[in-house]
Amino acid sequence: MSKQRTVIVTGGAGGLGYAISKKFVAQNDFVFVADLNQEAAEKAASELGENARGIALDVTNEESVQAVIQSIIDERRYIEVLVNNAGLQHRAPVDEFPLEKWDLLISVMLTGVFLMTKHVFPFMKEKEFGRIVNISSVHGKMASPEKVAYVAAKHGVIGVTSVTSIEGAPFNITVNSILPGPVRTPLLQRQLDDLMEVGKTEQEALETILYPRQSMNRLILPEEVASGVVYLSANEASGISGEHLSISGGM
Ligand SMILES: NC(=O)c1ccc[n+]([C@@H]2O[C@H](COP(=O)([O-])OP(=O)(O)OC[C@H]3O[C@@H](n4cnc5c(N)ncnc54)[C@H](O)[C@@H]3O)[C@@H](O)[C@H]2O)c1
Repeated sequence: MSKQRTVIVTGGAGGLGYAISKKFVAQNDFVFVADLNQEAAEKAASELGENARGIALDVTNEESVQAVIQSIIDERRYIEVLVNNAGLQHRAPVDEFPLEKWDLLISVMLTGVFLMTKHVFPFMKEKEFGRIVNISSVHGKMASPEKVAYVAAKHGVIGVTSVTSIEGAPFNITVNSILPGPVRTPLLQRQLDDLMEVGKTEQEALETILYPRQSMNRLILPEEVASGVVYLSANEASGISGEHLSISGGM
């Protein structure tokens, strides 16, 4: 079995974050399940066993980011893999979109990716090794109505990935993004529930917002996204950087 690596998964207590954490643990890595919701992070980690630890993290807060990264370095001496996954959604037409929701979505999904990368980078540079995977979305390359902040943040993640992959290259740090399609997690379920509240069946809601644009005509499994993350984080994926991989069932 290969050497155990230290992994941070932000938003690790959520639907995708948990599946990603589980796959790393299954291959004997040590995972910090880092989440705004400390209780959920600790619960997730205890389900994952002795190679997972729950930790409170607010990716929008530079002090929290620095403190968490330093405490992990103090304990484990190194961070080999960072998965920037924390996220949330808010839907409203642009002319009704509340500024505080815009600020929140941008700060969690764009500023958060920047801050985590900024503070992990020096340790990865020093060791001349690192793997960073940023969870963007199919909305990193396309648009849907009523998702102005989400789409802007996810397009931004593509930009952060591209810049940091260039800066990381001399230090054997690879940076890639993954663009998941629709995955049944609490984040997606809330959107389906909203559509069902206005009278659509779940099937109609899916067909309205997803299927016309997706060739496989099905939801993606969290494990399918997690497999892509683990692949891009592998030591063997040393030649892959600055890529934006869609795991969307053909969107
Ligand atoms: N579910 C989908 O269909 C889908 C599709 C494409 C992309 N994504 C992306 O995948 C990622 C995970 O989404 P999910 O569907 O698992 O959502 P989720 O709501 O299940 O989980 C998101 C997690 O992020 C955490 N979080 C929120 N704000 C945070 C902060 N400031 N600091 C740290 N953690 C914070 C939440 O507590 C939660 O545990 C998100 O970036 C999302 O945009 C999801």
